Amino acid sequence: EKPILPYEQIGAEKLSQLIDAFYARVGKHPKLKPIFPDDLSETARKQKQFMTQYLGGPNLYSAEHGHPMLKARHSPFPITPERAQAWLECMSDAMDEVGLEGKFREVFYQRLVMTAHHMVNRPDEEE
Ligand code: HEM
Repeated sequence: EKPILPYEQIGAEKLSQLIDAFYARVGKHPKLKPIFPDDLSETARKQKQFMTQYLGGPNLYSAEHGHPMLKARHSPFPITPERAQAWLECMSDAMDEVGLEGKFREVFYQRLVMTAHHMVNRPDEEE
């Protein structure tokens, strides 16, 4: 028996909706907006490729951009614990918006929590 991949569970359509809902929030978030480009369409395109392979689907991201090396690719951006939390809040709200529920959502979200914490590369800034 072949296990059902998380990518198959969510499906390309819903994954795409999730990422669009996510970046719509990132683009408005006071703590995230300043470190992202104004036009998030290319960022969203790459994130769709990345999430596809992160969830066990085809390696679309690596085929176009090479090894993800996520921590290294994030090193130019100041990722504080506060920003990691903001990123995760945008994702959780996006999951609500597209109606991701149950065990699938729980496992996917917990994986993102770990990856987000791994991206932190600066202490919180003084207000
Ligand atoms: C790119 C911020 C977490 C995956 C980026 C970019 C920023 C950013 C500023 C560059 C956008 C651009 O120039 O197009 C953050 C912050 C995070 C975070 C503040 C908070 C912890 C994550 C996580 C993942 C992820 C958890 C994956 C699960 C990516 C990918 C790209 C990206 C795939 C595109 C890389 C490329 O340019 O090829 N992120 N990120 N990020 N991020 Fe994050």
